[in-house]
Amino acid sequence: MEKKITAAITGVGQYLPDYLLTNEELSHMVDTSDEWIMTRIGIKTRHILKGEGVGTSYMGARAIINLLDKTQTDPMDVDIVICATVTPDMFFPSTGNLIADQAGCKNAFAYDVSAACSGFLFALATGAQFIETGHSKKVIVVGADKMSSIVDYHDRNTCPIFGDGAAAVLLEPNTEGLGVRDFILHSDGSGEQHLYMKAGGSRYPASKETLENNWHTITQDGPAVFKAAVSNMADVSVEMMKRHNLTADDIRFLVPHQANLRIIDATARRMGLPREKCMINIERNGNTTAATIPTCLYDYEKELRKGDNLILSSFGGGYTWGSIYVKWAYDGSKA
Ligand code: UT7
Repeated sequence: MEKKITAAITGVGQYLPDYLLTNEELSHMVDTSDEWIMTRIGIKTRHILKGEGVGTSYMGARAIINLLDKTQTDPMDVDIVICATVTPDMFFPSTGNLIADQAGCKNAFAYDVSAACSGFLFALATGAQFIETGHSKKVIVVGADKMSSIVDYHDRNTCPIFGDGAAAVLLEPNTEGLGVRDFILHSDGSGEQHLYMKAGGSRYPASKETLENNWHTITQDGPAVFKAAVSNMADVSVEMMKRHNLTADDIRFLVPHQANLRIIDATARRMGLPREKCMINIERNGNTTAATIPTCLYDYEKELRKGDNLILSSFGGGYTWGSIYVKWAYDGSKA
């Protein structure tokens, strides 16, 4: 009997812009403090992409070039590039399309997935299908967001939270049961009212009025999103554990979306996991939306071993949320 094909993650690449926006600098822009941001969110710095005419594709392409280099992969062998983002360079062409071109993946078809902070999970679940069906041999999933392009730096409710960045994974077929084992994804469009950017789309195209009303930046009801995030991220992660009879001891790492350290802690607590079993880089990177989960994989890659059980988990705009169970496919210390 032929063995089932799974989509193994066989490498991780990353690009973060150099400029670091500190809490000290933010405290000169809005009425805030390092102490408030550290206790309420857990962020010290965030990377910001500076420069005229550079968008999300600039970072996404560099993350993929890093990935191709690390995995010794010929860009011409890549079949598909899927980009998760809410800050595309333009409405069209898709940012995935631009990234594939800039990274030299000339034989790949490419497109974007829009699921806000859960974008990487939605894109990873999608990419895995192409591998599992035997359609493709090399799929790249990249999470990339230039959040600074839609943040209002006069709004203390949102400006400390977000940062820019990109990270990518390579998916390849595996017959040992390694890679993406299962996913649970959810959407609830009624969450629209709590986290959105009002204008610039077809409902309110850019106009003098939309600019004057400041409708081209993020609006968030923080406490409402916080409440929904804590319960849903924990529920879906615990559901994944139960479905696969995984105890806290069986899990090497929770790989959570990095929105707020308190949300990460609450999720880990419900799963029975100690802090040491949570991948955390929010203090340095802030919330890079679609890039948080793959940047965590990048940062912790060296600690990962073949067969490690990971639960990837997120909650974000939409609302969208979910968890993915991944069995790690290689010894990260050799990467
Ligand atoms: O990744 C996308 C999904 N997003 C999330 O998961 C975010 C979820 N929400 C959160 O993480 C938190 O709700 C925030 C970090 C956004 C806000 O933290 P909070 O503990 O919920 O604060 P709050 O909005 O309830 O505000 C508490 C107080 C208010 O003052 P008063 O009304 O009590 O006097 C705010 O005006 O803190 C004030 N405040 C600030 N103070 C200093 C709000 N932002 C700031 C700030 N610096 N930056």
